[in-house]
Amino acid sequence: MLFYTIASLLLAATTLAQTTPAGFTPSTNMTLDVYYGSTYITPGLMMKKSSVQKAPVVGVTGTELPGKYLLAFIVYNSQGTGGKRTTVLHALLQDYAAANQKQNGTNVITTKATGPSSYFGPAPPAETPKHPHNYIFLLFEQPANFAVPASHKQTVQSRMGFDIVKFMADAGLKDPIAGNYLQVQSGDNTKRSFQA
Ligand SMILES: *[C@@H]1O[C@H](CO)[C@@H](O)[C@H](O)[C@H]1NC(C)=O
Ligand SMILES: *[C@@H]1O[C@H](CO)[C@@H](O)[C@H](O)[C@H]1NC(C)=O
Repeated sequence: MLFYTIASLLLAATTLAQTTPAGFTPSTNMTLDVYYGSTYITPGLMMKKSSVQKAPVVGVTGTELPGKYLLAFIVYNSQGTGGKRTTVLHALLQDYAAANQKQNGTNVITTKATGPSSYFGPAPPAETPKHPHNYIFLLFEQPANFAVPASHKQTVQSRMGFDIVKFMADAGLKDPIAGNYLQVQSGDNTKRSFQA
């Protein structure tokens, strides 16, 4: 674990600009400002599960977002149970638009939509050894007449095994315009029926 910590620090120092975890595709260098209450998420910030159960306030600094946007929130577990890589969709929310409101200099965007996939707060399962899971935000321009492609309806509904790269291609999404991520430690959990 110590090795991992040092490696992550070195990576953080050398790829300062990247706002998504190393090794994750797609990547983006523009920060999506994310606030859970008064907590500003700097990329990779470790959060308590209990602090991230409600959808955050999001936006960007220094630029306007005049269109419609789609927000994806995905857990990418590069180690996974038994060394298996897993991805789970924690939110896919459409119709974000400018709220004409600022928080800490951030141009806030909001949506009334609760889908295609509602916000499901991080709940990493207990694991030995414990390790942090990366929960990744990606903001996309939303294509006109956006709809979940038929071939992705099942994974968007079940959340398990969601493939963002394939989804982008099939739904006609361009590269994300902004991103961010937070971490929650495995086992920071209470009993619930679904853990990811
Ligand atoms: C992000 O910035 C790094 C370092 O400046 C650069 O190598 C990389 O291509 C950039 N990535 C994107 C998606 O713009
Ligand atoms: C305000 O945003 C900056 C980044 O633009 C961040 O470093 C800082 O922590 C934020 N402060 C608050 C109180 O949200």
